[in-house]
Amino acid sequence: MYMRVAAAALLVASACRPEKQYPPAPAMPPQPSFVTLVNSTLARMHQRYSAARRIEEAIIWGDLATAQAEAGQLALLAEPSALPEWQPYFDRVRDAARELEASGVIASAARRSAELGAACADCHAAIGGRPVFDTILPPPTGDSVDAQMRAHGWGAARMWEGLIAPENARWEEGAGALVLSPITISEVEQTRLSDNMVSVRNAMGEHVEKIRAYASKAMTPLTQRERVDLYGEMLVTCASCHALVRDVDLARQ
Ligand code: HEC
Ligand code: HEC
Repeated sequence: MYMRVAAAALLVASACRPEKQYPPAPAMPPQPSFVTLVNSTLARMHQRYSAARRIEEAIIWGDLATAQAEAGQLALLAEPSALPEWQPYFDRVRDAARELEASGVIASAARRSAELGAACADCHAAIGGRPVFDTILPPPTGDSVDAQMRAHGWGAARMWEGLIAPENARWEEGAGALVLSPITISEVEQTRLSDNMVSVRNAMGEHVEKIRAYASKAMTPLTQRERVDLYGEMLVTCASCHALVRDVDLARQ
């Protein structure tokens, strides 16, 4: 009993002893919150992921070297400061980019770019980070190949966004534009191609049919896996026709 009172008195005494005065601690620099840190990692990462879109455009135009170079850059990206649970998704993006870089021909690069998109989509679906894309109005319509092709470029870009988000409405918006915007090689173009180029014309006709078929199929209910495959094959067709066009142009020079 006595001991306990003494201990209590001692406690009180020490509590009352004047505190030694320390100089005020220097002000801490503001610490980024967890959310800010996560968002800035994402923003930095996505700035570099914009290469994925440039890869698409290079492939559509049949530019394998540019697609490979951009993919090589993507494959080098590391995000050590990202959350550990995100790492498997980064790894998938890197692996897909590495495979794309190793593509020997444009057709396999086209298919692998669709796989790259699938890797992006997996993370968006898994962590609920659905990208929101700006609204981009379709280009003015017209009968010229240029106008039609700008419409095709627009449609393919929306399909890509629909694929990586993944988002049905965006995908269907793009596919719908491709269904509605036929590729008519004009009389003038046809005459230009006509000398000994019947086979080229026929091949172009087949490519046109294929694009239309892919776009129509894209409008039907498909799984994400089926969309990835379809998108890859469609890009192969865009690239094949452009390669043909380029060969014809070169042959004329
Ligand atoms: C580790 C997970 C992860 C991976 C991998 C990933 N993303 Fe994202 N992405 C997100 C999250 C989360 C958001 C939403 C961020 C927000 O709310 O601002 C997002 C948003 C976006 C956006 C919307 C605009 C922006 O810049 O924020 C685009 C575009 C995008 N991602 C593209 C891609 C592409 C292309 C790839 C593949 C090369 C990819 N992402 C891979 C998690 C990921
Ligand atoms: C039947 C052949 C053919 C097919 C299939 C084809 N294109 Fe084209 N594309 C052309 C021709 C011809 C040009 C004009 C080339 C030139 O200007 O020398 C062109 C040009 C383009 C351009 C540049 C247009 C501009 O002036 O800015 C884009 C973008 C484009 N195509 C996108 C696509 C996409 C995307 C696909 C697949 C969905 C596709 N094309 C399928 C024949 C085709």
